[in-house]
Amino acid sequence: MPKVTYIEFDGTERHVELPAGWSLMQGATLNGVDGIEGECGGSCGCATCHVYVDEAFLDKLEPPSETEEEMLECTAAPREANSRLSCQIKADPRIDGIVVRLPETQT
Ligand code: FES
Repeated sequence: MPKVTYIEFDGTERHVELPAGWSLMQGATLNGVDGIEGECGGSCGCATCHVYVDEAFLDKLEPPSETEEEMLECTAAPREANSRLSCQIKADPRIDGIVVRLPETQT
């Protein structure tokens, strides 16, 4: 199962193994990772699952959809070049080992 490292805003690292097809938002909210809310349940409608993706993995992800691009304009913390919505990133073997940092706030 693909492994994901979440780095919470205070620097705490959480290591989670996700079944293929799960989103990084699901992996966080179902494993007690602080800092991802996922209010809309993963339908790309809330921007409370904002993460900063480690640069080494950006090229391995599908580019953001138009809807994700629009929602990334609504994040509570500043949008950076490596900002993504974690509900739109699905675990698969290509991103095994991915590292994402969580922003200071989601609301
Ligand atoms: S959970 Fe709402 S946009 Fe990701």
